[in-house]
Amino acid sequence: MTFADRLGELLQRNLLRSIRDREAPRAHAADLSRIIIGGSELLNFASNDYLGLAGHSSLVKAAREAMETFGFGTGASRLLAGGTSLHSELEHDVAAFKGTEAALVFNSGYAANTGALPSLAGEGDTLFSDELNHASIIDGCRLSRAKTVIYRHGDADHLAELLESEGGQRSVVVTDTVFSMDGDIAPLGALHALCARYNARAGDRSVLLYIDDAHGTGVLGGGRGALSHFGIRPEPWILQMGTFSKALGSFGAFIATDKDTVQWLVNTARGFIFSTALPAAIVAASRAALRAVQEEPFRVAALWENRARLQRGLRAAGFDTLQSGTPILPLAMKTPEEAVAFAEQLRKHRIHAPAIRPPTVAKPRIRLTVTAGHTPADIDALLDALTAIRKGKG
Ligand SMILES: Cc1ncc(COP(=O)(O)O)c(C=O)c1O
Repeated sequence: MTFADRLGELLQRNLLRSIRDREAPRAHAADLSRIIIGGSELLNFASNDYLGLAGHSSLVKAAREAMETFGFGTGASRLLAGGTSLHSELEHDVAAFKGTEAALVFNSGYAANTGALPSLAGEGDTLFSDELNHASIIDGCRLSRAKTVIYRHGDADHLAELLESEGGQRSVVVTDTVFSMDGDIAPLGALHALCARYNARAGDRSVLLYIDDAHGTGVLGGGRGALSHFGIRPEPWILQMGTFSKALGSFGAFIATDKDTVQWLVNTARGFIFSTALPAAIVAASRAALRAVQEEPFRVAALWENRARLQRGLRAAGFDTLQSGTPILPLAMKTPEEAVAFAEQLRKHRIHAPAIRPPTVAKPRIRLTVTAGHTPADIDALLDALTAIRKGKG
Protein backbone atom coordinates (compact mmCIF):
# COMPACT_ATOMS: atom_id res chain seq x y z
CA MET A 1 0.00 0.00 0.00
CA THR A 2 1.39 3.43 -0.91
CA PHE A 3 1.23 6.41 1.44
CA ALA A 4 -1.38 7.91 -0.90
CA ASP A 5 -3.52 4.75 -0.51
CA ARG A 6 -3.15 4.90 3.24
CA LEU A 7 -4.10 8.58 3.31
CA GLY A 8 -7.16 7.79 1.20
CA GLU A 9 -8.16 5.14 3.71
CA LEU A 10 -7.77 7.57 6.61
CA LEU A 11 -9.93 10.09 4.76
CA GLN A 12 -12.63 7.49 4.22
CA ARG A 13 -12.66 6.63 7.92
CA ASN A 14 -12.85 10.34 8.92
CA LEU A 15 -9.43 10.02 10.52
CA LEU A 16 -7.36 12.21 8.21
CA ARG A 17 -5.57 15.08 9.92
CA SER A 18 -4.72 18.26 8.07
CA ILE A 19 -2.96 21.51 8.91
CA ARG A 20 -4.98 24.72 9.02
CA ASP A 21 -2.89 27.86 9.31
CA ARG A 22 -4.37 31.00 10.74
CA GLU A 23 -3.91 34.38 9.16
CA ALA A 24 -2.58 37.59 10.70
CA PRO A 25 -5.07 38.99 13.21
CA ARG A 26 -6.96 42.15 12.32
CA ALA A 27 -6.57 43.63 15.78
CA HIS A 28 -3.12 44.99 16.54
CA ALA A 29 -2.19 42.62 19.37
CA ALA A 30 -2.62 38.90 18.80
CA ASP A 31 -5.56 37.63 20.84
CA LEU A 32 -6.05 33.90 20.45
CA SER A 33 -9.70 34.00 21.55
CA ARG A 34 -10.33 34.83 17.87
CA ILE A 35 -8.54 33.50 14.82
CA ILE A 36 -8.81 34.06 11.10
CA ILE A 37 -8.84 30.94 8.93
CA GLY A 38 -9.54 31.07 5.21
CA GLY A 39 -10.48 34.74 5.45
CA SER A 40 -13.17 34.34 8.12
CA GLU A 41 -12.85 35.27 11.76
CA LEU A 42 -13.77 32.48 14.14
CA LEU A 43 -14.19 32.36 17.89
CA ASN A 44 -11.37 30.09 18.98
CA PHE A 45 -12.16 27.42 21.57
CA ALA A 46 -9.13 25.31 20.66
CA SER A 47 -6.14 27.16 22.09
CA ASN A 48 -4.32 26.42 25.34
CA ASP A 49 -3.63 30.13 25.86
CA TYR A 50 -5.65 29.85 29.08
CA LEU A 51 -4.68 33.24 30.51
CA GLY A 52 -4.69 35.20 27.26
CA LEU A 53 -0.95 35.86 27.58
CA ALA A 54 0.16 34.86 24.07
CA GLY A 55 -0.37 38.38 22.76
CA HIS A 56 0.40 40.24 26.03
CA SER A 57 2.36 43.43 25.42
CA SER A 58 4.89 42.65 28.17
CA LEU A 59 5.83 39.32 26.51
CA VAL A 60 6.17 40.97 23.10
CA LYS A 61 8.25 43.82 24.55
CA ALA A 62 10.54 41.45 26.49
CA ALA A 63 11.07 39.32 23.38
CA ARG A 64 11.84 42.34 21.22
CA GLU A 65 14.36 43.75 23.73
CA ALA A 66 16.11 40.39 24.13
CA MET A 67 16.31 39.97 20.37
CA GLU A 68 17.87 43.40 20.03
CA THR A 69 20.42 42.49 22.70
CA PHE A 70 21.24 38.87 21.88
CA GLY A 71 20.12 38.50 18.24
CA PHE A 72 17.77 35.68 17.29
CA GLY A 73 19.46 32.29 16.89
CA THR A 74 21.58 30.84 19.71
CA GLY A 75 24.02 28.87 17.58
CA ALA A 76 24.64 25.95 19.96
CA SER A 77 23.27 23.87 22.82
CA ARG A 78 23.39 25.18 26.41
CA LEU A 79 26.41 22.99 27.18
CA LEU A 80 28.29 24.63 24.28
CA ALA A 81 27.44 28.12 25.59
CA GLY A 82 24.49 28.63 23.23
CA GLY A 83 22.43 29.75 26.23
CA THR A 84 22.40 33.30 27.61
CA SER A 85 22.27 34.80 31.10
CA LEU A 86 18.49 35.01 30.52
CA HIS A 87 18.26 31.20 30.42
CA SER A 88 19.73 30.86 33.94
CA GLU A 89 17.61 33.75 35.18
CA LEU A 90 14.50 32.02 33.87
CA GLU A 91 15.52 28.86 35.74
CA HIS A 92 15.83 30.88 38.97
CA ASP A 93 12.39 32.38 38.34
CA VAL A 94 10.83 28.96 37.71
CA ALA A 95 12.40 27.47 40.86
CA ALA A 96 11.07 30.38 42.95
CA PHE A 97 7.61 30.07 41.31
CA LYS A 98 7.43 26.32 41.92
CA GLY A 99 9.11 26.37 45.35
CA THR A 100 12.02 24.11 44.39
CA GLU A 101 15.81 24.32 44.74
CA ALA A 102 16.44 24.41 41.02
CA ALA A 103 14.95 24.10 37.55
CA LEU A 104 16.09 23.26 34.03
CA VAL A 105 14.66 24.73 30.83
CA PHE A 106 13.90 22.40 27.90
CA ASN A 107 13.05 23.37 24.32
CA SER A 108 9.54 21.92 24.52
CA GLY A 109 7.35 19.77 26.69
CA TYR A 110 7.89 16.95 24.23
CA ALA A 111 11.68 17.29 24.60
CA ALA A 112 11.38 17.43 28.40
CA ASN A 113 9.36 14.23 28.71
CA THR A 114 11.27 12.25 26.10
CA GLY A 115 14.57 13.58 27.45
CA ALA A 116 14.06 13.30 31.19
CA LEU A 117 12.23 9.99 31.63
CA PRO A 118 15.05 7.86 30.14
CA SER A 119 17.50 9.72 32.42
CA LEU A 120 15.49 9.02 35.53
CA ALA A 121 14.80 5.34 34.95
CA GLY A 122 17.04 2.83 33.19
CA GLU A 123 17.66 -0.90 33.16
CA GLY A 124 16.43 -2.53 36.38
CA ASP A 125 14.07 0.38 37.15
CA THR A 126 10.31 0.67 36.62
CA LEU A 127 8.20 3.49 35.21
CA PHE A 128 4.57 3.52 36.35
CA SER A 129 2.47 5.49 33.89
CA ASP A 130 -1.23 6.45 33.92
CA GLU A 131 -3.00 4.89 30.93
CA LEU A 132 -4.16 8.31 29.64
CA ASN A 133 -0.80 10.10 29.90
CA HIS A 134 0.26 12.42 27.10
CA ALA A 135 1.98 10.98 24.00
CA SER A 136 5.29 12.61 24.98
CA ILE A 137 5.28 10.62 28.24
CA ILE A 138 4.45 7.43 26.38
CA ASP A 139 7.37 8.12 24.03
CA GLY A 140 9.66 8.95 26.98
CA CYS A 141 8.78 5.59 28.53
CA ARG A 142 9.46 3.85 25.21
CA LEU A 143 12.89 5.47 24.93
CA SER A 144 13.83 4.43 28.46
CA ARG A 145 15.38 1.03 29.11
CA ALA A 146 13.22 0.70 32.21
CA LYS A 147 10.21 -1.59 32.45
CA THR A 148 7.00 0.37 31.85
CA VAL A 149 3.91 -0.60 33.83
CA ILE A 150 0.59 1.07 32.97
CA TYR A 151 -1.91 1.69 35.78
CA ARG A 152 -5.62 2.31 35.30
CA HIS A 153 -6.53 5.93 34.70
CA GLY A 154 -6.46 7.95 37.93
CA ASP A 155 -6.49 4.76 40.02
CA ALA A 156 -4.13 5.12 43.00
CA ASP A 157 -5.22 1.74 44.43
CA HIS A 158 -4.22 -0.03 41.23
CA LEU A 159 -0.91 1.83 41.32
CA ALA A 160 -0.36 0.72 44.94
CA GLU A 161 -0.81 -2.94 43.94
CA LEU A 162 1.53 -2.59 40.99
CA LEU A 163 4.19 -0.74 42.99
CA GLU A 164 4.23 -3.67 45.40
CA SER A 165 4.48 -6.36 42.72
CA GLU A 166 6.44 -4.65 39.93
CA GLY A 167 8.72 -2.09 41.62
CA GLY A 168 12.35 -2.07 40.47
CA GLN A 169 15.57 -0.67 42.01
CA ARG A 170 14.08 2.72 41.43
CA SER A 171 10.43 3.39 40.62
CA VAL A 172 9.14 6.49 38.87
CA VAL A 173 5.43 7.29 38.98
CA VAL A 174 4.50 9.48 36.01
CA THR A 175 1.25 11.33 35.54
CA ASP A 176 -0.30 14.29 33.76
CA THR A 177 -1.77 16.60 36.42
CA VAL A 178 -4.54 17.72 34.07
CA PHE A 179 -5.27 15.19 31.32
CA SER A 180 -5.07 17.12 28.10
CA MET A 181 -7.94 15.47 26.24
CA ASP A 182 -10.33 14.84 29.15
CA GLY A 183 -9.65 17.84 31.36
CA ASP A 184 -9.82 15.77 34.54
CA ILE A 185 -7.32 16.17 37.38
CA ALA A 186 -5.06 13.35 38.59
CA PRO A 187 -5.57 12.20 42.22
CA LEU A 188 -2.28 13.78 43.23
CA GLY A 189 -3.05 13.69 46.96
CA ALA A 190 -3.31 9.89 46.87
CA LEU A 191 -0.36 9.44 44.48
CA HIS A 192 1.80 11.68 46.68
CA ALA A 193 0.81 9.85 49.88
CA LEU A 194 1.66 6.52 48.26
CA CYS A 195 5.10 7.66 47.08
CA ALA A 196 5.78 9.33 50.45
CA ARG A 197 4.96 6.08 52.27
CA TYR A 198 7.41 4.19 50.08
CA ASN A 199 10.14 6.75 50.53
CA ALA A 200 9.74 6.73 54.32
CA ARG A 201 10.27 2.94 54.47
CA ALA A 202 13.66 1.56 55.36
CA GLY A 203 15.72 0.22 52.48
CA ASP A 204 17.03 1.79 49.33
CA ARG A 205 14.05 1.38 47.02
CA SER A 206 13.15 4.94 46.18
CA VAL A 207 10.11 6.25 44.34
CA LEU A 208 10.13 9.44 42.30
CA LEU A 209 6.92 11.27 41.41
CA TYR A 210 7.13 12.95 37.99
CA ILE A 211 4.19 15.23 37.26
CA ASP A 212 3.48 16.74 33.86
CA ASP A 213 1.86 20.04 34.81
CA ALA A 214 1.57 21.32 31.23
CA HIS A 215 -2.14 22.14 31.66
CA GLY A 216 -1.94 22.83 35.42
CA THR A 217 0.72 25.55 35.38
CA GLY A 218 -1.01 28.94 35.19
CA VAL A 219 -4.39 27.25 35.71
CA LEU A 220 -4.50 25.36 39.03
CA GLY A 221 -3.48 26.55 42.50
CA GLY A 222 -3.95 30.24 41.66
CA GLY A 223 -1.61 29.73 38.71
CA ARG A 224 1.26 28.03 40.55
CA GLY A 225 0.14 24.61 39.43
CA ALA A 226 -1.08 21.27 40.68
CA LEU A 227 1.07 20.94 43.82
CA SER A 228 -0.31 24.24 45.15
CA HIS A 229 -3.83 23.14 44.20
CA PHE A 230 -3.43 20.04 46.38
CA GLY A 231 -1.43 21.81 49.12
CA ILE A 232 1.52 19.46 48.55
CA ARG A 233 5.00 20.67 49.53
CA PRO A 234 7.68 20.20 46.88
CA GLU A 235 10.05 17.40 47.93
CA PRO A 236 13.39 16.33 46.46
CA TRP A 237 11.71 13.20 45.06
CA ILE A 238 9.06 15.18 43.16
CA LEU A 239 9.81 16.50 39.66
CA GLN A 240 7.44 19.17 38.34
CA MET A 241 7.52 19.39 34.57
CA GLY A 242 5.62 22.31 33.05
CA THR A 243 5.37 24.12 29.73
CA PHE A 244 5.67 27.80 28.87
CA SER A 245 3.63 27.14 25.73
CA LYS A 246 0.14 26.89 27.18
CA ALA A 247 -1.16 29.17 29.98
CA LEU A 248 2.13 31.08 29.96
CA GLY A 249 1.65 32.13 26.34
CA SER A 250 5.29 31.56 25.36
CA PHE A 251 7.24 28.48 24.26
CA GLY A 252 9.42 25.77 25.80
CA ALA A 253 9.27 23.80 29.04
CA PHE A 254 10.94 23.21 32.39
CA ILE A 255 11.53 20.65 35.08
CA ALA A 256 11.63 22.02 38.64
CA THR A 257 13.10 19.83 41.40
CA ASP A 258 16.16 19.56 43.66
CA LYS A 259 19.68 20.65 42.59
CA ASP A 260 21.21 17.19 42.25
CA THR A 261 18.41 15.91 40.03
CA VAL A 262 18.72 18.98 37.83
CA GLN A 263 22.47 18.40 37.51
CA TRP A 264 21.80 14.75 36.66
CA LEU A 265 19.45 15.88 33.87
CA VAL A 266 22.04 18.38 32.60
CA ASN A 267 24.47 15.48 32.31
CA THR A 268 22.19 12.79 30.93
CA ALA A 269 18.95 14.09 29.34
CA ARG A 270 19.52 13.72 25.60
CA GLY A 271 16.67 16.09 24.68
CA PHE A 272 18.53 18.76 26.64
CA ILE A 273 22.12 17.93 25.69
CA PHE A 274 21.73 17.38 21.96
CA SER A 275 19.52 20.33 21.02
CA THR A 276 20.24 23.99 20.30
CA ALA A 277 19.35 26.42 23.11
CA LEU A 278 16.05 28.31 22.88
CA PRO A 279 16.34 31.82 21.44
CA ALA A 280 16.80 34.53 24.10
CA ALA A 281 13.65 36.25 22.82
CA ILE A 282 11.55 33.23 23.81
CA VAL A 283 13.28 32.92 27.17
CA ALA A 284 12.66 36.61 27.91
CA ALA A 285 8.99 36.22 27.00
CA SER A 286 8.69 33.27 29.39
CA ARG A 287 10.16 35.39 32.21
CA ALA A 288 7.64 38.14 31.45
CA ALA A 289 4.84 35.55 31.48
CA LEU A 290 5.80 34.28 34.94
CA ARG A 291 5.72 37.88 36.18
CA ALA A 292 2.32 38.48 34.56
CA VAL A 293 0.76 35.40 36.19
CA GLN A 294 1.85 36.67 39.60
CA GLU A 295 1.12 40.37 39.08
CA GLU A 296 -2.21 39.97 37.26
CA PRO A 297 -4.22 37.46 39.31
CA PHE A 298 -7.42 38.69 37.64
CA ARG A 299 -6.47 36.47 34.66
CA VAL A 300 -6.72 33.22 36.63
CA ALA A 301 -9.95 34.47 38.20
CA ALA A 302 -11.44 35.30 34.77
CA LEU A 303 -10.41 31.89 33.43
CA TRP A 304 -12.30 30.07 36.17
CA GLU A 305 -15.35 32.36 35.91
CA ASN A 306 -15.49 31.62 32.19
CA ARG A 307 -15.03 27.93 32.81
CA ALA A 308 -17.94 27.95 35.31
CA ARG A 309 -20.20 29.78 32.83
CA LEU A 310 -19.45 27.33 30.02
CA GLN A 311 -19.75 24.24 32.21
CA ARG A 312 -23.11 25.45 33.59
CA GLY A 313 -24.41 26.07 30.08
CA LEU A 314 -23.19 22.72 28.77
CA ARG A 315 -24.78 20.89 31.66
CA ALA A 316 -28.08 22.72 31.18
CA ALA A 317 -28.03 21.80 27.48
CA GLY A 318 -27.44 18.13 28.35
CA PHE A 319 -23.89 17.72 27.02
CA ASP A 320 -21.67 15.00 28.51
CA THR A 321 -18.33 16.59 29.48
CA LEU A 322 -16.88 13.38 30.95
CA GLN A 323 -14.95 13.96 34.20
CA SER A 324 -13.59 17.41 33.37
CA GLY A 325 -12.67 19.66 36.30
CA THR A 326 -10.73 22.27 34.32
CA PRO A 327 -11.05 24.68 31.37
CA ILE A 328 -10.62 21.69 29.02
CA LEU A 329 -14.17 20.54 28.33
CA PRO A 330 -14.62 17.54 26.04
CA LEU A 331 -17.96 16.89 24.36
CA ALA A 332 -18.34 13.14 23.88
CA MET A 333 -19.23 12.03 20.31
CA LYS A 334 -20.27 8.56 19.22
CA THR A 335 -18.17 8.21 16.06
CA PRO A 336 -15.32 10.02 14.29
CA GLU A 337 -17.83 10.85 11.56
CA GLU A 338 -20.15 12.55 14.06
CA ALA A 339 -17.20 14.47 15.59
CA VAL A 340 -15.99 15.71 12.18
CA ALA A 341 -19.52 16.75 11.12
CA PHE A 342 -20.07 18.53 14.45
CA ALA A 343 -16.81 20.50 14.11
CA GLU A 344 -17.80 21.42 10.55
CA GLN A 345 -21.17 22.72 11.73
CA LEU A 346 -19.49 24.73 14.48
CA ARG A 347 -17.33 26.34 11.80
CA LYS A 348 -20.51 27.47 10.02
CA HIS A 349 -21.39 29.22 13.28
CA ARG A 350 -17.93 30.83 13.16
CA ILE A 351 -16.58 28.72 15.98
CA HIS A 352 -13.31 26.81 15.87
CA ALA A 353 -13.30 23.68 18.06
CA PRO A 354 -11.68 20.64 16.50
CA ALA A 355 -12.75 17.00 16.41
CA ILE A 356 -10.30 14.81 18.33
CA ARG A 357 -10.32 11.24 17.09
CA PRO A 358 -8.45 7.96 17.44
CA PRO A 359 -5.55 7.33 17.73
CA THR A 360 -5.16 10.56 19.79
CA VAL A 361 -8.05 9.39 22.01
CA ALA A 362 -9.95 6.12 22.25
CA LYS A 363 -13.36 7.84 22.12
CA PRO A 364 -14.01 10.67 19.65
CA ARG A 365 -14.90 14.10 20.98
CA ILE A 366 -14.97 17.83 20.39
CA ARG A 367 -12.33 19.35 22.67
CA LEU A 368 -13.31 22.78 23.95
CA THR A 369 -10.89 25.00 25.83
CA VAL A 370 -12.14 28.20 27.37
CA THR A 371 -9.72 30.99 28.29
CA ALA A 372 -9.54 34.25 30.22
CA GLY A 373 -9.62 36.03 26.86
CA HIS A 374 -13.21 34.98 26.09
CA THR A 375 -16.07 37.32 26.96
CA PRO A 376 -19.37 36.11 28.45
CA ALA A 377 -20.92 36.90 25.03
CA ASP A 378 -18.36 34.58 23.33
CA ILE A 379 -19.32 31.75 25.65
CA ASP A 380 -23.03 32.36 25.11
CA ALA A 381 -22.45 32.34 21.33
CA LEU A 382 -20.76 28.96 21.66
CA LEU A 383 -23.61 27.60 23.80
CA ASP A 384 -26.22 28.88 21.32
CA ALA A 385 -24.37 27.23 18.43
CA LEU A 386 -24.02 23.94 20.29
CA THR A 387 -27.69 23.92 21.18
CA ALA A 388 -28.77 24.73 17.61
CA ILE A 389 -26.57 21.94 16.21
CA ARG A 390 -27.88 19.49 18.79
CA LYS A 391 -31.48 20.34 17.84
CA GLY A 392 -30.63 19.75 14.19
CA LYS A 393 -30.97 23.40 13.28
CA GLY A 394 -27.26 23.86 12.76
C1 LIG B 1 0.24 17.01 28.92
C2 LIG B 1 1.19 17.52 27.90
N1 LIG B 1 2.51 17.25 28.04
C3 LIG B 1 3.41 17.69 27.15
C4 LIG B 1 3.04 18.42 26.05
C5 LIG B 1 4.07 18.85 25.05
O1 LIG B 1 4.41 20.18 25.26
P1 LIG B 1 4.99 21.05 24.05
O2 LIG B 1 3.84 21.48 23.22
O3 LIG B 1 5.69 22.20 24.74
O4 LIG B 1 5.95 20.16 23.32
C6 LIG B 1 1.68 18.74 25.88
C7 LIG B 1 1.22 19.60 24.76
O5 LIG B 1 1.01 19.25 23.67
C8 LIG B 1 0.73 18.26 26.80
O6 LIG B 1 -0.58 18.48 26.62
